[in-house]
Amino acid sequence: MPGCELPESLRQYYLDTLGITNWRLQQPASVVADVVVDQAALPDAAPVADNTGDASVALDDDWRELQQAVSQCRLCEELAQSRTQTVFGVGNRQADVLVIGEAPGRDEDAQGEPFVGRAGQLLNAMLAAIDLPREQVFIANILKCRPPNNRDPSPQEAQNCRAFLQRQIALIQPKVIFVVGRIAAQNLLDTDLAIGKMRGRDYQYQDENTGPVPVIVTYHPAYLLRQPGEKRKSWQDLLRLRALMQSW
Ligand code: URA
Repeated sequence: MPGCELPESLRQYYLDTLGITNWRLQQPASVVADVVVDQAALPDAAPVADNTGDASVALDDDWRELQQAVSQCRLCEELAQSRTQTVFGVGNRQADVLVIGEAPGRDEDAQGEPFVGRAGQLLNAMLAAIDLPREQVFIANILKCRPPNNRDPSPQEAQNCRAFLQRQIALIQPKVIFVVGRIAAQNLLDTDLAIGKMRGRDYQYQDENTGPVPVIVTYHPAYLLRQPGEKRKSWQDLLRLRALMQSW
């Protein structure tokens, strides 16, 4: 796995933050299912720019265009009116690991960056516990705008925002998607399965611009803050992610 090994004391600190004090690194449970999501029926993703000339310049242009399109989007009128700003996503554009959450909350809406509140701090600790610094991954959400009062995104809002996420996935070309929370997992994988049923299974995301990408589903850090007893399960999910990364 790329990235530096954590000193044991620091790893222990992160595990303590996760509420996992007596656990050792171990191999994850074996594969339970292999579900391919073919999303060909979904609406067109944002258009692919004409990539002639210098590839990195073209890629920069693609990101700039996408970021601008997100910031100007008013497809969901209620969200466009109530947001402070859009929250595009943050991190390494060449990341192997793409983390996908649900939608910005109050802190994220104020700062314009995903997962900066308490849930974000726990997410950082979760990633760090498997030697994965936040800066090494890319973090995005299903929705780029905060739903008022942190209500769940409506299906229509998720649908409206889908092309932006698809484009992010196509540009990043991650080797794995780590999806946190029921809403994010259900939307990404186009299912209404309960999260407890999705955890531990091998999923793949695929759309017309993106070949199959493995997906690991885990609980949302905000849920873990409310239900700390579930952190052990999320640790299992992190170990699956870590094992996959070590196989590269
Ligand atoms: N919860 C999410 O799902 N995303 C964020 O960016 C913040 C909190």
